Amino acid sequence: MSGLFITLEGPEGAGKSTNRDYLAGHLRDRGLDVLLTREPGGTPLAERIRELLLAPSDEKMDADTELLLVFAARAQHLAEVIRPALARGAVVLCDRFTDATYAYQGGGRGLGVERIATLERFVQGGLQPDLTLLFDLPVEVGLSRAAARGRLDRFEQEGQAFFEAVRQAYLDRAKADPQRYRLIDAAQPLVAVQQSLDGLVAQIVERVRG
Ligand SMILES: Nc1ncnc2c1ncn2[C@@H]1O[C@H](COP(=O)(O)OP(=O)(O)O)[C@@H](O)[C@H]1O
Ligand SMILES: [Mg+2]
Repeated sequence: MSGLFITLEGPEGAGKSTNRDYLAGHLRDRGLDVLLTREPGGTPLAERIRELLLAPSDEKMDADTELLLVFAARAQHLAEVIRPALARGAVVLCDRFTDATYAYQGGGRGLGVERIATLERFVQGGLQPDLTLLFDLPVEVGLSRAAARGRLDRFEQEGQAFFEAVRQAYLDRAKADPQRYRLIDAAQPLVAVQQSLDGLVAQIVERVRG
């Protein structure tokens, strides 16, 4: 038995968490075993690494340090949560995964794709998401939604150019692998976004039940 690994990607304020919960409700209604999780984080240790990554600090975090912390948290999350859940046949809905590393550390920080790919192979082996929902929206819209949430974390404090690069990196990846990605116009009103997810529920149920 093997479950289904679904990741939700996009910038701050795109609606990942809101729609992850929405999708989970519908999949559970259909009787599926659904595990909700997020990155960086998803286990107590990985959540501690998350705090290191998000906390604003006077000491500038080196981009390589950031990249290694992201993958350290991911290794823990895969070992403790994601792989066991997939092995028991669950649908894993993960708020951000390695596409976010390509977008933020690759696009945003300008780290080479090759280095990210090396760590990806090291930490994941062959494991990749079965499906990735990319919530895309203009940078200003996402930032204003995120700002309404309150205090900005270390990433949210970045400027427009950083987030434009993040967005572009996400879009480039989605374009290169249309089989895996589902591009969602996240600037639409929430009801419209959720309508576009409704069709997906039946497809997911079918894939899991085989
Ligand atoms: N399509 C939408 N239109 C308007 N507001 C939205 C939409 N999707 C989410 N929101 C709101 O924007 C904020 C950020 O949503 P959230 O799901 O936390 O985004 P993310 O997890 O991607 O950062 C929340 O207040 C949420 O209610
Ligand atoms: Mg969120």
